[in-house]
Amino acid sequence: MEGRIIFATNNKHKLEELSAILEGKFKVLGLKDIGFEGEIPETGSTLAENAYQKSHFIYERFGLDCFSDDTGLEVDALGGRPGVRSARFAGDNSSYAENVDKLLRELKGKKDRSARFRTVISLILKGKEYQFEGSVEGSITEERHGEKGFGYDPVFLPDGYNQTFAEMPASRKNKISHRARAVAKLVAFLKK
Ligand code: IMP
Repeated sequence: MEGRIIFATNNKHKLEELSAILEGKFKVLGLKDIGFEGEIPETGSTLAENAYQKSHFIYERFGLDCFSDDTGLEVDALGGRPGVRSARFAGDNSSYAENVDKLLRELKGKKDRSARFRTVISLILKGKEYQFEGSVEGSITEERHGEKGFGYDPVFLPDGYNQTFAEMPASRKNKISHRARAVAKLVAFLKK
């Protein structure tokens, strides 16, 4: 019988993606589907802490199997920043454009532009937590290239490619991305 699992997100795109992958095995429900409209606190100092905080929050309230994800961009020349603060790099409620502007400013004139996206997924299944991680290595370009994607995609050039994430078709990004790699591990585990 098909199990039910909650994905602690309101991001429609992420929900559709996971529903399709797990079809037949799990019915994936989002926060809205279980009637949760509030904000889940994210106060951890690492991606793993934040991911756990979100899955734990939902498990405690609803007692349902669930998972959550947290992603950050780690830039070596900035000591791993923005990392867990990637969504708020230029300040609370900052836009993608403001965050990218700040990143380019901080890296101006820097030779070492190596960076990686990292995703941590926290799964709580029958009360036990499991974590899955995915990352993709690359570098930060000097200017924006491309219009696709979101976030830092226009300035992230994955190693071995000559297109930023914002220039390549979504199908290609979704094969090599941090999130895709973490999700593949989650799905392999859930399909066992
Ligand atoms: P979240 O944990 O998935 O919400 O990601 C946190 C932040 O990381 C987002 O607000 C984006 O700025 C950035 N980010 C996450 N995934 C991506 C991606 O695939 N491309 C570019 N930026 C991303």
